[in-house]
Amino acid sequence: MALFELTGKTVVVTGAGSGIGRATAVMVASQGATVVVADIADSAHETVTQITDAGGSARAAVGDISDPAVAEALIADADADGTLWGLVNNAGVMDLFSGVAKVDDGTWERCLRVNLTAPMYLMRAAVPRMVANGGGSIVNVSSEAGIRGAAAGAAYTASKHGLIGLTRNTAYMYGKAGVRCNAIMPGGVETNIMASIDQSKLDMEGLGVLGAVHAGALRNAKPDELAALVVFLLAVEASNVNGALIANDGGWSAG
Ligand SMILES: NC(=O)c1ccc[n+]([C@@H]2O[C@H](COP(=O)([O-])OP(=O)(O)OC[C@H]3O[C@@H](n4cnc5c(N)ncnc54)[C@H](O)[C@@H]3O)[C@@H](O)[C@H]2O)c1
Repeated sequence: MALFELTGKTVVVTGAGSGIGRATAVMVASQGATVVVADIADSAHETVTQITDAGGSARAAVGDISDPAVAEALIADADADGTLWGLVNNAGVMDLFSGVAKVDDGTWERCLRVNLTAPMYLMRAAVPRMVANGGGSIVNVSSEAGIRGAAAGAAYTASKHGLIGLTRNTAYMYGKAGVRCNAIMPGGVETNIMASIDQSKLDMEGLGVLGAVHAGALRNAKPDELAALVVFLLAVEASNVNGALIANDGGWSAG
């Protein structure tokens, strides 16, 4: 039996072809929701197979969500039958760990586009539909880098701080209309995120300044541990949780 009942609801999960997004899509589907598995990579289809093999409901949407036309079509498709309830803005890319003096335009633009502008496109399209549907829940996957300066480079840090601002503003603006918006802040998670950059270009000087960035955390998390938090935030059991920033970081942010 599902702990958090999401039957009859459609939930979009971006970056669901890998890592936290895939774990989230699988867990959300296990609670009865129909999941739209969005990713730029074809691995979205593997996630769909995993869900349908387990008896769940899912469909893939392969495309670049930082293209506004793709983002709008994704939300329109997800709400084709008027059941859009959830949006998990999880897709994200890392930077090269450079401080502002060394950040290159390409890395800056990519991080801001994928980590911040794409969630805005999706939320802009989703919020009016959620209001029309009687409510909804948006979960933005930020990071320790959304509240701290010592977790990544300038581009990723700025994008994840921005996502928290977008979360809080949306929570306040649309909460009374029934649309909640919360952010989670993973610490270290065992995923493929470092594959989103050319690691031969890592800024070793920047990494050196950041030092032992995980020193305060107990351990890295498994993707399922983040997925469980997302499922809670999507569910009606979290109906009074709005505009919250919730860490799952083994205590890192407590230091
Ligand atoms: N892994 C960590 O330690 C960690 C820590 C804090 C925050 N996060 C955040 O968690 C989220 C998920 O990351 P992950 O660790 O699971 O990484 P991951 O690389 O395993 O998954 C990210 C997914 O996003 C997809 N994606 C990237 N750009 C896209 C685009 N333009 N359109 C559609 N899909 C796109 C990728 O193809 C990939 O499948 C990210 O927002 C990341 O910043 C991760």
